[in-house]
Amino acid sequence: MPEVFIDGKRYEFEGDHMALQYMLDQGLEVPFFCYHPSMSIPANCRQCMVKAGQYMKNDETGEYELDEEGERKIRWFPKLQTSCALKLSDGMVIQTQETSDEAERAQKDTLEFILANHPLDCPICDQAGECPLQIQTYKYGPEGSRFEVKKVHKPKRVELGPRVTLDAERCINCTRCVRFTEEISESHQLTIVSRGDKNYPITAPSETFDDPYSLNTVDICPVGALTSTDFRFKARVWEMNQTPSIDISNGKGCNVDLWTRDNEVLRITPRQNDHVNDYWMPDESRNAYKLFNENRVSRPFIKLDGDNQSNSSWNNAIETFAEVLEANDSSDILLIGSPHASVEENYTFNKFFNLLGAPNARFATHIIDGYGDDFLITDDQAPNTSGCRLLNLDESSSSELKTAVSQAKVVITLGDDLIDRDVLSVSDLEDPYVVSLATNHNEMTKASDLVIPITCVAEHAASYVNIDGRIQRSFPAKETKYSNRRLNLEMSEGRLDRFGTNFDNWVNEDNKVDCLPVWEFLNKLAERLGLEFEYRHSREIMTEISEKLDTFADVSFERMDEEKGIQLPIKQSKVEQK
Ligand code: SF4
Ligand code: SF4
Ligand code: FES
Repeated sequence: MPEVFIDGKRYEFEGDHMALQYMLDQGLEVPFFCYHPSMSIPANCRQCMVKAGQYMKNDETGEYELDEEGERKIRWFPKLQTSCALKLSDGMVIQTQETSDEAERAQKDTLEFILANHPLDCPICDQAGECPLQIQTYKYGPEGSRFEVKKVHKPKRVELGPRVTLDAERCINCTRCVRFTEEISESHQLTIVSRGDKNYPITAPSETFDDPYSLNTVDICPVGALTSTDFRFKARVWEMNQTPSIDISNGKGCNVDLWTRDNEVLRITPRQNDHVNDYWMPDESRNAYKLFNENRVSRPFIKLDGDNQSNSSWNNAIETFAEVLEANDSSDILLIGSPHASVEENYTFNKFFNLLGAPNARFATHIIDGYGDDFLITDDQAPNTSGCRLLNLDESSSSELKTAVSQAKVVITLGDDLIDRDVLSVSDLEDPYVVSLATNHNEMTKASDLVIPITCVAEHAASYVNIDGRIQRSFPAKETKYSNRRLNLEMSEGRLDRFGTNFDNWVNEDNKVDCLPVWEFLNKLAERLGLEFEYRHSREIMTEISEKLDTFADVSFERMDEEKGIQLPIKQSKVEQK
């Protein structure tokens, strides 16, 4: 098998590899800026320099040639090499900054060069804390600055488009953003203008950077040159917790990270998953964070008379709900599940009321034909349509649901605004008693007689099946009134959790929503109704589903974590990157 020798250690490799990616895969560290594994390699930052050469082999015997001291002879390449663009070959010798003074010196010099005109913005720069330039200068850079002349000034706070702001002075001209628009989103909206130390990326005159994937350039910009107009100056990275989750704003299920501070989600960024979204996500999906913070249903609501809804205690809400269920025949109950809710929510919701004798839950898809783009935006606006189908909920059209509502005395809905999306109208819901299990106030909750606040994707561990049949799960990122970050082992802990106290002015109890996971609320309702129904965790619900339904056989939270989601045995639709 071909072999390479990196910093004196032998490695075997198969196939084609570039040295930098190969070294990163081996857990070795080489500083770099312009390289991105999903894009072409321009090798323009010169930060990943290594010393490289080739052990010399005898043409006839194929044996390595030895010098007088019995050491293998090396033919060093005449200059240092950019490891991102260096293809591995059999017998190659590489020395990184760990073993080569020349490589170390080159990296120091490159950093000094990059920093010559770079502003000293770190204290106010949005990239601080997650900036490779900052980190690499600290680890590999020169100790001081020899630069005594005035720095070159470039445009600042340029609104490239509706969502991205450029600070050209911080740009190190890695061209990642330009390559992204050329190779990934294919909008070709950015280009580098000007020359030498004056160049920076910009759109063509009078053009705006409104690429539907524009915020990915902010993620991949190694410095604080491209910033999210929405997120700028909102928080520092070390103040936030980073929790893995799933995008719930369409059917693709992009893997994301939710960034929270004091129980508010402040930004959503993509998380790499080669099976789903690579490193990317659409801009519109990032806006979903507002749904997790704003306009939340907190504490139950009951309609007393006419349109007046008032806050209710949980006990009163449970008692009212139980009385309604006891006063009506189970065949008069209509259950409406939701493709916007998780597998566990739909399953427990349907199971609970089925135990009371209610017919199987229905659901209405949320598909807008022609909305998708064959990349990461889909026609399906819900994260779990496949999940509802696999749980055998009855897929119903708007007219079928209207008819079912007109025949029901009690309508119970799960986290779906059927009025806003024109499946039902307010007048359809006038006669039956309507109960909504909801995360946010909307037309549906306004039209309901009883509103039960439930946790959203940012507050529970739950799974969702995307349009391709891949089941993936979320982790709780925010505490509710009844959850505790330290006691809930699923939740990540950040600096504020460890060192913050209730007396710090950045900690605010108001941001904890008074809501319960669906299954926990149903546990309480079951207790009141004397029903055998109890779950302690959504993990337990998934175990039960996997035992009962063949399609979910062997699915578990552990496997989803290890394998970054599991492809269920259903037809996978072909979604190609443009
Ligand atoms: S891009 Fe990095 S090094 Fe430059 S000012 Fe911002 S944090 Fe500092
Ligand atoms: S703006 Fe950022 S991503 Fe674009 S070229 Fe400059 S440093 Fe690279
Ligand atoms: S990462 Fe190799 S030259 Fe930039």
